[in-house]
Amino acid sequence: MNDLDEQARAILRKNDRGGYTVPTARLYPYQWNWDSAFVALGFATFDRQRAWQELDMLLEGQWPNGMVPHILFRRDDPDYFPGPSVWQANRGPIPSGGISQPPVLSSIVQALVDTGGEADARRAEAMFDKLCLWHRWWHTERKPKGCPVVATVHPWETGRDNCPDWNIGMDAMAVHADLEPYTRMDTQHANPAQRPSKDQYDKFVTIIKFGRDCGWDQSILTNEGPFLMADPGIHFILLRADRDLQKLAARFGRGTSEIESWIDAGTTGSDYFWNAQANAFCARDVHSGKFSDGFTNASALCFYADAGSEDQRAATVAHIERIGAAAKYMLPSWDPEAPMFEAQRYWCGPIWTQMNYIAAKGLAEAGHADLASRLRSDLRAMIEQSGFYECFDPMTGAGCIGTDFSWTAAMWLTWASPTALSAGEA
Ligand code: GLC
Repeated sequence: MNDLDEQARAILRKNDRGGYTVPTARLYPYQWNWDSAFVALGFATFDRQRAWQELDMLLEGQWPNGMVPHILFRRDDPDYFPGPSVWQANRGPIPSGGISQPPVLSSIVQALVDTGGEADARRAEAMFDKLCLWHRWWHTERKPKGCPVVATVHPWETGRDNCPDWNIGMDAMAVHADLEPYTRMDTQHANPAQRPSKDQYDKFVTIIKFGRDCGWDQSILTNEGPFLMADPGIHFILLRADRDLQKLAARFGRGTSEIESWIDAGTTGSDYFWNAQANAFCARDVHSGKFSDGFTNASALCFYADAGSEDQRAATVAHIERIGAAAKYMLPSWDPEAPMFEAQRYWCGPIWTQMNYIAAKGLAEAGHADLASRLRSDLRAMIEQSGFYECFDPMTGAGCIGTDFSWTAAMWLTWASPTALSAGEA
């Protein structure tokens, strides 16, 4: 036990709102989808019951069509924009956002089963059908006509909100002429220089307006909406989650053929993201076919998904090593040697703790233990130096934006702390 372990547990307890956890007070006062999944790993280090409760409460918000929304608005909080009255997405049992977030959940469930006992397996089995339903939603509702991979309709769905990856799709769309005036709250709780720009926000809200106007019909949103890009982050996380779902299915004696077809499509679909010029897996605009050209922490997830050819993987390792020489800390969310890099602006450069964790997990599994352990020890050093921030400046290790952040505390407990159980293998 050390002091930071105790602080991390205290943060999770403090951000607990009665069975679910907010990412941080004020800036994000609701339950977020992939945050909760990572948070469950943190709780599992000291309270497994509470870990499962977090996941059960997330799935309580699942829509009848299978979508697990990116935010659940269990109560209205005037401190946050855009809240439930803006989304008006009332197709599920709890007011929510009308889009989803990276589907890491099945992989977290599989990890809890792997490290747990019979009680954990029973909890996982009880949620298996819901997990399947959500994966099916991705593979149908977010599969645009004629596109070989799942895509995304909103940068917020990727969890990498203002990454330069989305500029192609954002530049191609216009701000809605009749956008209702609104007041941003994020810039009142955090330094505006570290947050998305006004034009980006207007476009984020324009997509919400489109969703609202079509009654959150997901097929219309996907096929006719103002923004449609494919994200290597979602793709690789979903492919990994499909593989983990298959393991759960086999364990519970459930059919696996549908899941296998998703895995096959995901494996061949990985080539869709290969940008031969950048020599990397990159985001891509579905309408124009244009690639983003920056190497991101999502590009590094091919190992986590067990995807890509030998050459593609070698090129990815070369990028990681090059960036490792350019940055003091690893792994930045945007290439520090590329234009548009900003060391402290959200997804334009800062390091994100949960991304380090999954990227390192994949690297370790693929035999790159040295790189995996660099990602882990860098995260440890930044938390020791700066505290439990939302994200970190890769050049200095300074903490950015939200403080006492839940997934940072969780990643500390489960992985970055010297006392973490998974310490050896990253
Ligand atoms: C920001 C992040 C997103 C996260 C949310 C809550 O929007 O970009 O990934 O889920 O905050 O922490």
